[in-house]
Amino acid sequence: MKKIIISNLKMNKNFKEFDSYLQTLKSEVKNFQNEIVLCPSSIYLDKLFSEKLKFSIGIQDIDHRNQGAATGSISATQVKNICEYAIVGHSERREVFKEHNQMIKEKISRCWENEITPILCIGESLKIREKGIEEIKKHLFSQLEETLNFNDNFQDIIIAYEPIWAIGTGLSATNNQILEVLEIISEKLSLISNTKNIPVLYGGSVNLDNFKDLQKISNLSGFLIGSASLDPNSLSKIINDF
Ligand code: 13P
Repeated sequence: MKKIIISNLKMNKNFKEFDSYLQTLKSEVKNFQNEIVLCPSSIYLDKLFSEKLKFSIGIQDIDHRNQGAATGSISATQVKNICEYAIVGHSERREVFKEHNQMIKEKISRCWENEITPILCIGESLKIREKGIEEIKKHLFSQLEETLNFNDNFQDIIIAYEPIWAIGTGLSATNNQILEVLEIISEKLSLISNTKNIPVLYGGSVNLDNFKDLQKISNLSGFLIGSASLDPNSLSKIINDF
């Protein structure tokens, strides 16, 4: 199966910076054996699309409805011909915008209706992590169940395990911690869906120094990278050496 590397630029880069970011990626990235997905701010999606590069395009979030009175939101119907992927359920959306599992479930349905593959982010807080593996399991099970169970017409999906305590902290989860969680996720997925080979990615302080080690985790399909992907040279190196 192809590996997947997703860059989540979050709310970074002005027009000039994004332009030079793309120029560097265009000249530095040599390895397109894997699926490489760029998720810039929505204001750059059209530009990225019109460049017709070998990168796939993802949106950082989408609305749970297809159209209507939703100031500031972007719907899957609006980006369906531009984006192949959409991140949904990112912990920053869950925390800051109070997005809950029911809404995330609806976002997943909107993705599927519009031929967009959702990248569903799940992960526990430090408080839950400190309570031990049974609590972590309970939390991840409920995130998966409440967004996917009985979600009609189960289709393509990518799961990204992003422990909240590892995001932007420089403190990545260890290989053993990730392995343990991969088992939990696959146990639940096998109960929810007949779909085999659902890719599971890891995100949380993945960088140039640790990605080689994290790559050794069997069954891990790739990475969702935030901070380290802001530097196009670092991202290119990770992509080329993956
Ligand atoms: P960092 O790589 O900065 O920890 O961010 C991870 C993330 O949130 C990607 O969606």
